[in-house]
Amino acid sequence: MTHELKKLLENVDNALKAHKFGVYPAELYDPIQYILSLGGKRLRPMLCLLGYQLYRPTWQHALKPALAVEVFHNFTLMHDDIMDEAPLRRGQETVHKKWNMPVAILSGDVMLVRAYDLLLDMPEHLLRKTLMHFNTCAAEVCEGQQIDMNFENRALVSEEEYLHMIRLKTAVLLGFSLRLGALLAEASEEDQEKLYELGVNVGIGFQLMDDLLDVYADQGKFGKQVGGDIIANKKTFLLIKALENANPAQKEKLENWLRASQFDAAEKVTAVTDIYNELNIRQLTENKIQFFFDKGFTALESLGVSEENKALLREFFQELIKREK
Ligand code: IPE
Ligand code: IPE
Ligand code: MG
Ligand code: MG
Ligand code: MG
Repeated sequence: MTHELKKLLENVDNALKAHKFGVYPAELYDPIQYILSLGGKRLRPMLCLLGYQLYRPTWQHALKPALAVEVFHNFTLMHDDIMDEAPLRRGQETVHKKWNMPVAILSGDVMLVRAYDLLLDMPEHLLRKTLMHFNTCAAEVCEGQQIDMNFENRALVSEEEYLHMIRLKTAVLLGFSLRLGALLAEASEEDQEKLYELGVNVGIGFQLMDDLLDVYADQGKFGKQVGGDIIANKKTFLLIKALENANPAQKEKLENWLRASQFDAAEKVTAVTDIYNELNIRQLTENKIQFFFDKGFTALESLGVSEENKALLREFFQELIKREK
């Protein structure tokens, strides 16, 4: 990563560390400190800063809105881990495991409120637009989450339905983050719209990659439970493609695992992964990831801003494709 990206990332981390969320009662605020201290790629605040920097050099002005999107993201993670019954987040125990579920619910709720507080840093004449876009995005994230859970209980999900679901649960927040930076920099409506779409396409690629890593990541680096999606019958791109391409014997095996209510988790993960391997699902998913990232790169080329400013965002996306967690 270049010096400039590292510097931006450091500034995001330091500002998050310094931010005061509240102190009393500790059960409400400690989990916030905890989840934020575990790290994370800080992708969304970086997009906000980089979106701003396409138009103006003074990224400091975009820091609070950048924190807002990271705090919102962490709120969604805290609640997502309850919904997904996830034991691990960023290499440590999830909040509902370390404390309990009511704590994770309420602590998450107050994070959402604090995200709004941070958005209040937007200049008054941009606040209405900001909230309009943010609220649309936040409601869509909830819609995507519910659809994701509905799919757990459905035997068949099409690729199209899946792409729609991940657009909502993941991609629109990346789009919003980029747009937020551009909005603050008072870029044209047309550019904001372009950046939003660009962020959405990269976001779809990003969630496809998240699905891929959930099966193929190195547990030591990943920070989440490898195989979690298989255990939970998540209708990921990998499973959808496997069901589409399986021969009758493979299909029956997959369906048996999807139906099983009592099973050894490790055994299920190995068996399903074996079928993915037989069907070359990894390559198929990597191609799809590349397709969506390429859409993002192409949109970036057509954006009417200086080559120098674009370079940083392009580099950031290139780093993102290489991620291992
Ligand atoms: C995890 O997001 C949830 C998804 C939308 C895939 P990240 O992969 O950005 O998680 P952190 O913030 O880096 O931990
Ligand atoms: C994340 O989807 C979507 C959110 C809005 C949090 P996942 O459930 O795949 O995210 P991880 O893998 O737990 O981070
Ligand atoms: Mg989830
Ligand atoms: Mg999850
Ligand atoms: Mg995941």
